[in-house]
Amino acid sequence: MRIISKPLLAGGALAGAATGLVWRQVRGQRQTDEPTDPGNLFLRKYGPWALVTGAARAEGLGYSFARHLAGRGFNLVLADITGEELAERAAELQAKYLVKVRPIVLDLGDEDFLGALLAQTADISVGLLICNHMWTPKNTPTIMEMDLASHMAMLDINARSYTALVHAYGRSMVERAQGGIVIVTSGAGLQTTPYTGAYSANKAYQRSLGEALWYELQGSGVDVLVAAPGLLATQGDALAGYPQWMVMDPDPVAVATLDALGREGPVLIPGLVNKAFMFTQTRLLPRRMAVESVGRFMAAGLLKPRMGSV
Ligand SMILES: NC(=O)c1ccc[n+]([C@@H]2O[C@H](COP(=O)([O-])OP(=O)(O)OC[C@H]3O[C@@H](n4cnc5c(N)ncnc54)[C@H](OP(=O)(O)O)[C@@H]3O)[C@@H](O)[C@H]2O)c1
Repeated sequence: MRIISKPLLAGGALAGAATGLVWRQVRGQRQTDEPTDPGNLFLRKYGPWALVTGAARAEGLGYSFARHLAGRGFNLVLADITGEELAERAAELQAKYLVKVRPIVLDLGDEDFLGALLAQTADISVGLLICNHMWTPKNTPTIMEMDLASHMAMLDINARSYTALVHAYGRSMVERAQGGIVIVTSGAGLQTTPYTGAYSANKAYQRSLGEALWYELQGSGVDVLVAAPGLLATQGDALAGYPQWMVMDPDPVAVATLDALGREGPVLIPGLVNKAFMFTQTRLLPRRMAVESVGRFMAAGLLKPRMGSV
């Protein structure tokens, strides 16, 4: 019998894994344009209404989720703080996809936002919840530069409201033994990210909440997925300082996330580059080196002077 060397086996396994990853990536990109669910199984499982938070901005990930869900026949509740743009998005979706769209303008950081939102969705059954909204100051201050009120507002918007939404809509889903919850965290939630430390901490909260929920709801009929995108082309030129080959369009992220719900989990990292980056950061590097290397990466991207430099 012919003996195959260990390095060859390892090389073959690596090549196989890489081919599989590339194939899945290419397939993921192609699925953006092609209908993949002719039996409407996704809609039957999670429909007829989806609630997407943070969907007002035309270039944002939330609107991409909304478009792809409307394309799959979902009626939509869109919740966002930005009223005029939200109304425009709702009108666009209604006109193009002929689905019902209910835009709800509210501040998800308000202490009593949940009562207002529940009142406006009391007559419908939300089968899919996409927690996607977020807020961080545009000038990306460090933890110490940021004023305390902004820290507290970020906790309200990016952490407290996520728990409130998941608790309220998730409980109804558990009672019906059917539904789906997507929590949009970030690579910054998987890997501590200096120079956007408050955001990173908020995103870690979301990731941890979602991962635990994914496990606790196994067998309940409610699927949970934590999506952890890397850099997205949603913030105008705010990401101009980063390597552009690392920046993804929101559409493949939304499609890959919807396709992975109920199939993968607890965390989906969309995109081959991001998978490799996060694997290096979270599995290969010691924690201290990982924090330092991301700190340098962020400093370069944000054009900030690094710790220790003059
Ligand atoms: N962009 C990236 O590079 C990136 C990378 C990884 C993960 N993500 C995550 O992906 C998700 C979508 O990001 P995006 O880049 O598409 O962001 P985005 O376009 O800024 O979307 C966030 C939406 O949430 C809204 N919002 C902010 N505060 C709110 C509040 N208090 N109540 C209700 N709505 C509020 C925003 O309104 P305003 O515009 O008026 O603030 C905006 O419409 C976020 O969870 C983000 O953390 C983004």
